[in-house]
Amino acid sequence: MSEKPTKMSGGKPDAARRSRKTPKQSKENATRMMHHKVKTARGRKISSKLWLERQLNDPYVKEAQIQGYRSRAAFKLIELDKKYSLVKQGDLVVDLGAAPGGWVQIALQLGAREVIGIDLLPVDTVAGAKILEMDFMDDKAPDAIKALLGGAPDVVLSDLAANTTGHKNTDHLKTVALVEAAAEFAMDVLKPGGHFVTKVFQGGAQKDLLNRLKENFKYVRHAKPEASRKGSPEIYLVAKGFRR
Ligand SMILES: C[S@@+](CC[C@H](N)C(=O)[O-])C[C@H]1O[C@@H](n2cnc3c(N)ncnc32)[C@H](O)[C@@H]1O
Repeated sequence: MSEKPTKMSGGKPDAARRSRKTPKQSKENATRMMHHKVKTARGRKISSKLWLERQLNDPYVKEAQIQGYRSRAAFKLIELDKKYSLVKQGDLVVDLGAAPGGWVQIALQLGAREVIGIDLLPVDTVAGAKILEMDFMDDKAPDAIKALLGGAPDVVLSDLAANTTGHKNTDHLKTVALVEAAAEFAMDVLKPGGHFVTKVFQGGAQKDLLNRLKENFKYVRHAKPEASRKGSPEIYLVAKGFRR
C-alpha cells in the first residue's frame, strides 16, 4: 500500500476512456499555446495580473474551454479515472464541492446515472445532476444529500477546498476539517465496494484519517494528476473498495 503520490501518466485507459483527451495528449494544441503577457493596467494588482497571465497561458484552461468543460479541474478527474477506474456505467455519484461543475460533467460522461452535488456557490443546471447550494459543514447537509440520493452511492468525490484566509494554521485546520467530514460522510453512505476520492493538502491525509481509510477500504493511494498545478500543495487521495 503506497502512500506516495503517484504520477498520473502511467494509466492504461480502455478504448472509451482513451478518447477523452487531456491537453498533454492533444498534439494540435501546440499551435494554440501562444504565450500571452498581460499588461499591468492601472489599478490592477500584480497578483491579479499574474493570475490572469497564468489563466491565459494554461493549456488546461484553454482545453476546458474548447471541450466545453466548466473547469480545468475536469482534467484531474479524467486522469484519476483513467488510472483508477472510478466511475462505471449506471453509477450513483456524490460530488462534494461541485461548483462550477467540471467534475459533475465528467462523472456523467463516464456513465454515472445521476450525480448529487453540494457547494456553497450556485452551479448552473446540468442534466442528470441535482446540486444543493449549501455549506457541507452545516449539520443538516449530510441528511439533505442523503434525501436526494435515495440510496447508497457507488462513488463519493470531494474536491472541496476552503477559501483561504492567509492565516496558515486557520487554513490548515479548515482544510483538515473538510477532508475529515468528507471521509466520514463517504464511510457513512457508500455501497460496499464503493470508491472515495478526496483532495487533500500538504503532504497528504492526516495519519489518523489515513489509518481509518486503510481499515475501511481495500486500498488507498495518494495521487498527483498532471493537471494539478506543480506549485500547488494539493494532492488527491483515492480509496477503493469500501468494506462496510
Ligand atoms: C476546487 S473547487 C471544485 C471544482 C469542481 N470539482 C469542478 O470541477 O468544477 C472547490 C469548491 O469547494 C467549495 N466549498 C468549499 N468549502 C465548502 C463547504 N463548506 N461547503 C460546500 N462547498 C464548499 C467551493 O465553493 C468551491 O466551489
